[in-house]
Amino acid sequence: MRVAVTGANGLLGGEAVALLAGRHEVLALGRGPCRLPPGPYRWTSASLGDGSTAAALGAFGAQAVLHVGAFTDVDGCERDPVAAWQVNVVGSQEVARACRALGARLVAVSTDYVFDGEAGPYGEEDLPNPRGAYARTKRCGEEAALLLAPDCAVARVAVVFSGRPGAKSTFATQVVEKLSRGEPVKAFADQVVSPTLAASGAAMCLELLLEHRYRGVLHLSGATVLGRVDFAHRVARRFGLSGEIVPVATASVQLPAPRPLSAGLKVDRAAALLREKPLTVDQALERFHAEWQRRGR
Ligand SMILES: NC(=O)c1ccc[n+]([C@@H]2O[C@H](COP(=O)([O-])OP(=O)(O)OC[C@H]3O[C@@H](n4cnc5c(N)ncnc54)[C@H](OP(=O)(O)O)[C@@H]3O)[C@@H](O)[C@H]2O)c1
Repeated sequence: MRVAVTGANGLLGGEAVALLAGRHEVLALGRGPCRLPPGPYRWTSASLGDGSTAAALGAFGAQAVLHVGAFTDVDGCERDPVAAWQVNVVGSQEVARACRALGARLVAVSTDYVFDGEAGPYGEEDLPNPRGAYARTKRCGEEAALLLAPDCAVARVAVVFSGRPGAKSTFATQVVEKLSRGEPVKAFADQVVSPTLAASGAAMCLELLLEHRYRGVLHLSGATVLGRVDFAHRVARRFGLSGEIVPVATASVQLPAPRPLSAGLKVDRAAALLREKPLTVDQALERFHAEWQRRGR
């Protein structure tokens, strides 16, 4: 099958390309040069929102598309809503229209930030109420995908982390790095989240894309809903690290964009539907630790 992945240089996209390569004909799309390890996939440099991604999908003749690419810097989106709209809304519209024209199945990846965080964890039937430019543009991107691509599922994930060599820094990697250096780690005491190991999220997204006909929204985060302080302690414990984890109130930090506090996603539907099950946080940390061990080699 001809399968394309947008945002292929990113956390989830990189994992998806690694899982697909060698099993399907794969087009990896990202802006600028490829930063992934070499493999049996084709790379095309394309931006989201300017037509170049749609052109590349058309030239490839994509039959299935995992749309992961996004402007994911939450505070960056708040500072530059025009760019956020261009990438997260116009870019999603571009991908969805291309899928419509090609008759391709689409899985568009989204976020728990579409909820306001007043009463999480949230199920698929709960009503989004996004706050801030990132959340609002991601929500609009969801609607563009669902409305324009006839065969589409929106997969929401949350707090993605990866120990893969070259993967970008995340809260989990910062906990390991800071505690290893003997530095304290600050963790928001009032944020509840469902951390998602990138490799697990990518595997669930690909199963949804290639093996199911499910249409509509599906929550594909990790299975454990917990506070960030608890998450930090569990990361530390798995890595045998001691040190100070400092609870901080979100309101005490000046952040450009609002954060949902009581967030997190319910994944019962995914657990019932998929062979690739959402991982508990301890299962995810086991794999994260193994990924991290491979970094040094
Ligand atoms: N990370 C999280 O905690 C989290 C939580 C919930 C939902 N999500 C969603 O999950 C998806 C994947 O996120 P991720 O964690 O893998 O994020 P990521 O590592 O930031 O990956 C996003 C990718 O999109 C690319 N991109 C950004 N602007 C682009 C543009 N104009 N044209 C083409 N590509 C562009 C980025 O390119 P560069 O590498 O060049 O910057 C990056 O490779 C996103 O849809 C995100 O909204 C993420």
